[in-house]
Amino acid sequence: MLAQINGITLAFNDHGTGPPLVFLHAFPLNRSMWTDQETALSTQFRVITIDLRGHGESDAPLWHYSLDQAADDVHGLLDHLSIRQAVLIGLSMGGYIALAFYRKYAERVKGLILADTRAQADTEDGKRARFEIAQLAYKQGPSAIADLMISKLLSPATIQTRPELVQRVRTMIEGTQVSGIAGDLMAMAERPDSIPLLQQIGCPTHIIVGELDVPTPPADARFMADRIPHARLAVIPGAGHLSNLEQPDLFNEAIRSFGLLLAGC
Ligand code: MLT
Repeated sequence: MLAQINGITLAFNDHGTGPPLVFLHAFPLNRSMWTDQETALSTQFRVITIDLRGHGESDAPLWHYSLDQAADDVHGLLDHLSIRQAVLIGLSMGGYIALAFYRKYAERVKGLILADTRAQADTEDGKRARFEIAQLAYKQGPSAIADLMISKLLSPATIQTRPELVQRVRTMIEGTQVSGIAGDLMAMAERPDSIPLLQQIGCPTHIIVGELDVPTPPADARFMADRIPHARLAVIPGAGHLSNLEQPDLFNEAIRSFGLLLAGC
């Protein structure tokens, strides 16, 4: 489905009925990374997956991107769908956006699931690396980004034994426009430190992390879980950074139990 939000076209899926779950994807992927979650969870929940601006079938304007703008897009879509409150599930960049959304629109958040993400801002070295990746995307296109990123996104065992999943991730990355890739890199480099926000989070929060996640390792997840009041933490065995793709059953079960707990609140 398509909606006009904040002057651009945003693509999204809206399946099932029940308490709303809104899924925010990782960089540089799109809403199709949540297909397994849509199938498993839309029998009990209203599952909304969004192509963030710059990704998938949404517009990828050639202009300044920010995580606050992404949060405004999610807010606009919730208004468009007449959803007053939702559980936000953000993986990696999606988690940064969920935190940006909470900072601006806490009253719209029923609960937060922060998967394979972190609260810290980028270091100066991290910002420089983002600039270099944006240059690579500009000069060589998204397939060079896929070559660079796949070994960071998936665990070694998945890369060796699940070629169809590797290809699925590659196809998502190769389908992302350079304007979206570069825009996200700038937005992530500029994101604020969210550590001070953690202790102010007043909604139920569940942290999920793949035990083999390299970009945002379990230590980053524990750091958040130790600071967000009453947060729960699930470490998913055998999963790297894209834990929802590598271990969908365990990931879905964590979401289902948290979502049902909140539905009773
Ligand atoms: C992601 O998976 O969204 C990225 O690894 C996030 C990042 O580059 O910080």
